[in-house]
Amino acid sequence: MPLSLAQMRRNYTLDGLQDDLALDDPLTMFRQWMQQARQTESAPVEANSMALATVDSQGRPHCRILLLKGLSDEGFTFFGHYQSDKGQQLAGNPNAAMTFFWPGLERQVRVEGQVSRLDPQLSDAYFDSRSLASRLGAWASPQSRPLASRAALESLLVETGKRFVGQTIPRPEDWGGYCLRPERLEFWQGRADRLHDRLDYRLQKGVWERNRLAP
Ligand SMILES: Cc1cc2nc3c(=O)[nH]c(=O)nc-3n(C[C@H](O)[C@H](O)[C@H](O)COP(=O)(O)O)c2cc1C
Repeated sequence: MPLSLAQMRRNYTLDGLQDDLALDDPLTMFRQWMQQARQTESAPVEANSMALATVDSQGRPHCRILLLKGLSDEGFTFFGHYQSDKGQQLAGNPNAAMTFFWPGLERQVRVEGQVSRLDPQLSDAYFDSRSLASRLGAWASPQSRPLASRAALESLLVETGKRFVGQTIPRPEDWGGYCLRPERLEFWQGRADRLHDRLDYRLQKGVWERNRLAP
């Protein structure tokens, strides 16, 4: 059966993105938008979920959903396995892109830049803040590698639990954080009749330059 979605469309009328309301610093603007998204997006949508795109050694893009865990002066942080597919792609090519979609606000933010591993102490601190199950899971699950079965994963988890019984669980060496240092951000606000607002910020010699883009 063919699937046609051609008639699915919504008119976006919630808000606008006026030039005089746009901030000079896109990272401050991102914080504002994230704050508003946290108040607007309700479960099951998590305001800090985003699509992360990376590129493999053959130039092919790969995209998956991750959770943003922070924005510091250095950049946007997220966590995962360093030997996962994304980890290997980032090791070979640090260029990456993140896209946030906040449907309740009719907004999208795109972030582009280079990714590096987070300082090990920061990864340790985040790892230690995770639940016991998540910490055990980081040890038990060889992220992105094939598993014989669901049962195989569950038995890896049981073995990991036994191995660490009564002990503090250290962060696995191959699990940790990344930081994307932004070079470009784009703020998109849906508007009526597809005449959306797009504000593009590019870092040029340490200064953010802003341009309005055609929708
Ligand atoms: C809502 C949601 C949140 C997720 N958060 C993370 C995350 O923070 N870190 C992570 O490694 N994977 C996360 N995942 C799983 C990834 O989408 C992906 O399956 C995993 O990272 C392996 O990707 P890779 O094989 O390209 O490395 C999340 C998935 C969803 C749907």
